[in-house]
Amino acid sequence: MSGKFIAFEGCEGAGKSTQMRLLSEYLQKRGVSHVVTREPGGGEISEAIRKVILNGKFTAMTDECEALLYAAARVQHLADTVAPALERGQLVLCDRYIFSSYAYQGGGRGLPRAFLEAINSYALEHFMPDVTLFLDIPPALAFDRKHGVDESDRMECAGEGFHARVYAAYKALLKEYPGKFVAVDCSGTKFETSAKIAAMLEERGLIPRG
Ligand SMILES: Nc1ncnc2c1ncn2[C@@H]1O[C@H](COP(=O)(O)OP(=O)(O)OP(=O)(O)O)[C@@H](O)[C@H]1O
Ligand SMILES: [Mg+2]
Repeated sequence: MSGKFIAFEGCEGAGKSTQMRLLSEYLQKRGVSHVVTREPGGGEISEAIRKVILNGKFTAMTDECEALLYAAARVQHLADTVAPALERGQLVLCDRYIFSSYAYQGGGRGLPRAFLEAINSYALEHFMPDVTLFLDIPPALAFDRKHGVDESDRMECAGEGFHARVYAAYKALLKEYPGKFVAVDCSGTKFETSAKIAAMLEERGLIPRG
């Protein structure tokens, strides 16, 4: 597969959608063929799974069920969206990927890493991103930017302690995957952050120099 795969991670409201949109505009101006997609989702089946996972009514969902649904949505999304784009030689920008499972279901929910690795083994073996960017901003600040928690979203209303554990897990993953999982300081304006991201990706040869 000749394309490149870039994933974006961060807490709720860290600016993933904003940065992916700005990067997409930048790539479009430079004529770089790319696909913008998100997890869980990006296709009919995975979007349907997303609705089940995030449904605020499903308070009885077990942590294991949640993790398996994310893993199921992931393999479908790889088959429907990511693999075809990579085969066409396109750049794939994906909103959340495997480190979300480690941070949310591992750090946040407390599921063992071995379980998460087992259920995600297909993705881990065949589709590791060329780089995953961590939009680094503490969860409380990120929620402020979003003007608070969306009560209808099961993950967003999981509580402050949960989101603090997610953030700590992301920080630990940065140390575990140097060069593959890379932090971007997001304390500046969205345009400053966007310029940093473009420069980082150019430096790594993942996008052409501007
Ligand atoms: N650098 C920034 N400074 C201030 N506000 C910002 C910045 N970047 C993004 N925002 C704002 O913060 C809010 C959250 O950003 P965004 O929706 O991109 O985050 P997200 O990570 O995609 O969130 P979610 O997890 O809900 O998808 C938006 O209202 C956005 O306009
Ligand atoms: Mg978003």
